[in-house]
Amino acid sequence: MSDGGYGTIVMEKIIINGAKPLRGTIEVSGAKNAALPILLAALMVDDKCVIENVPCISDVTLSLEILSSMGCRIRMLTKNTVEIDSRFATGGVSPYDLVRRMRGSYYLIGAELGRWGRAYVGLPGGCDIGIRPIDQHIKGFRALGAEISVEGGYVKASADELSGASIYFDNVTVGGTINVMIAAARAKGTTVIENAAREPHIVDLANFLNSCGAKITGAGTDVIKIKGVDKLYGSTYAIIPDMIEAGTYMCAAAATRGRLRVNNVIPKHLESISAKLEEMGVEIIENDDSVEVCGNGELRRVNIKTLPYPGFPTDMNPQIGVLLCLAKGVSCLTESIYDNRFKYVEELKRMGASITVDGSTAIIEGGGLLSAAPVKALDLRAGAAMIIAGLAAKGRTEIEDIHFIERGYDDIVGKLRSVGADIKKVIIPSAVSFEKAN
Ligand code: EPZ
Repeated sequence: MSDGGYGTIVMEKIIINGAKPLRGTIEVSGAKNAALPILLAALMVDDKCVIENVPCISDVTLSLEILSSMGCRIRMLTKNTVEIDSRFATGGVSPYDLVRRMRGSYYLIGAELGRWGRAYVGLPGGCDIGIRPIDQHIKGFRALGAEISVEGGYVKASADELSGASIYFDNVTVGGTINVMIAAARAKGTTVIENAAREPHIVDLANFLNSCGAKITGAGTDVIKIKGVDKLYGSTYAIIPDMIEAGTYMCAAAATRGRLRVNNVIPKHLESISAKLEEMGVEIIENDDSVEVCGNGELRRVNIKTLPYPGFPTDMNPQIGVLLCLAKGVSCLTESIYDNRFKYVEELKRMGASITVDGSTAIIEGGGLLSAAPVKALDLRAGAAMIIAGLAAKGRTEIEDIHFIERGYDDIVGKLRSVGADIKKVIIPSAVSFEKAN
């Protein structure tokens, strides 16, 4: 019998009082989309690895929980440095309910196949931004000699021995490139991936694996060669800065007509973002490992099409979409990677945006001011866009479902407060309380 105790549903929100220019310096954390593959690829190294500059985000916490449940010994040496000892790990036991919470967990397939010759991993989750199949991953694993089936919500794979092969991806896929690279690192012989993704996080993973003794060349180009080795050895490796986090803060500076120094960046990774912001009239000063963004001029309309790297990143679509609402004139924003990346438009319309989505293109009538409103984060980058919109809009904006944002942004509220934003995270007990079940 329940004791008649009462539970209360609590909700976390971000509250912003906007229209204050951001001024100061923001430090960018390690890249989420490099950290996830590198942490899970540590499974391939039956030794100890120390990974530095790991961002404090929930997807990383989740990845470490999954590794720990597989028998890896995890030690946090600092807030951003983790030691992973994979010597006692076993495959095929990753918890389904954890694996399905994010997209990056599917790197476990490549890691388990690569290390043990078999994999048993739940299908991944991740942001609902469109159909996200894994047919190219499966094509790559089969080329390496694995038998693959998808049944009961799991991917099952096995191979007597993984042998190097030539793989041509039908479409550019970051995840597919990463997964095959991981699996091929200890295969017999040489694997060549053609039409490979070129993102900086692909290069970062290749550099990490090479620091462990792998023989990978060509990462960052569309042809990657992996000469399989028998064993990988523990190493210490620092993750690159997060280019999407940097781009998000660059947009926030422009949206609030502020002046921001964004530290810990690799300017080359930001080239397409900087180029578009400059085309919009934003002043960008590039230094060795930082960029200065000065958004005090009027924002001009531009047309943008998202493309695989080095094109304009799809993960910056929502953030630049907010900026186009503030620019003078009509802009076209075309999404070429996903078929459901414009969900944030409906939330922006609550703030007065004038946007028409026609297939893969959003026609954005800018020039108006955004007005504060209660809105929701509908996925990770859409949530970041709501923060930028709230920072720009006069008045109080409340953002719900902020767990999406915390998947990929390390202390975004604290970082924005440090440069003058009136922003805070609040926990609100819901008016609804409920009697606990037995
Ligand atoms: C990674 O997703 C990122 N996620 C995404 O970032 C990012 O948007 C995407 O790369 C593109 O840059 C992580 O790194 C964890 P893809 P991924 O495979 O690997 C299609 C964020 O906000 N495709 O390059 O899933 C797919 O449907 C997240 O940080 C196939 O058709 O992306 C999509 O249309 C969101 N078959 C396109 O390719 C496949 O087998 C690109 O997907 C695989 C993908």
